[in-house]
Amino acid sequence: MANKMVAGNWKMNKTFQEAEELISELIEELEKSEHKCEVVVCPPALYLEMTSDYSSDSGVMKIGAQNVSEYEKGAYTGEIAAGMLASMNVDYCIVGHSERRKYFGETNKQLALKVERLLENAIRPIFCCGELLEEREAGNHFLVVEKQIEEALFHFGSDEFMNIIIAYEPVWAIGTGKTATPDQAQEMHAFIRRVISNKYGNEVAEATTILYGGSCNAQNAKELFSNPDVDGGLIGGASLKAKDFAAIVNSF
Ligand code: PGA
Repeated sequence: MANKMVAGNWKMNKTFQEAEELISELIEELEKSEHKCEVVVCPPALYLEMTSDYSSDSGVMKIGAQNVSEYEKGAYTGEIAAGMLASMNVDYCIVGHSERRKYFGETNKQLALKVERLLENAIRPIFCCGELLEEREAGNHFLVVEKQIEEALFHFGSDEFMNIIIAYEPVWAIGTGKTATPDQAQEMHAFIRRVISNKYGNEVAEATTILYGGSCNAQNAKELFSNPDVDGGLIGGASLKAKDFAAIVNSF
């Protein structure tokens, strides 16, 4: 059985003060209930230390970064290395979000390197995959997602692969208010598990956490998470409101 997880991706939002308010409120909300899944918060990199300081006493959440350099260290102005994240107690890192693929031209080859750097530093990657609207309309969505996973991840051995979380995020559902139907999510998640099973065997596939992302909110989370192959969510917009995010966490 895969571990259940809800991860919040704050993207490029909030000033430092606003981020402090959000994290304090969120800790308060999460402490009120006993949640049944792992909670991960991914703030902008500048706020990782603050977020980790605020949350370390409560232990209600783990901390994740939104991106990492494919390089180990050195003259790469503006980049952040996996070793740096590890030294700041970061547990997870989102890799290959569709916004990084679209606006920053990240390729599966680069993502493979990023995942390598993270695994070397014992940070668990949350690897995003998902098709564009035109790819779904052309009936290519399964092929696209399979290729993203294969090209970026299938050179790892099963011991390494076991540390990777997959997030299926159909690009047409991100920030659009258009959620995949529970059936569409389940269908793709089951397909991803089959792809993993064909490569690494059933045991690894069953143990892999596969999150859904794309306009997941407090209203639709329960129905999405009730699908057998949906192990939780990667939440964008709704992670910026403490009560909404806590309600999603409590949807299990
Ligand atoms: P959204 O974003 O929940 O705002 O659609 C999800 C994501 O990009 O991870």
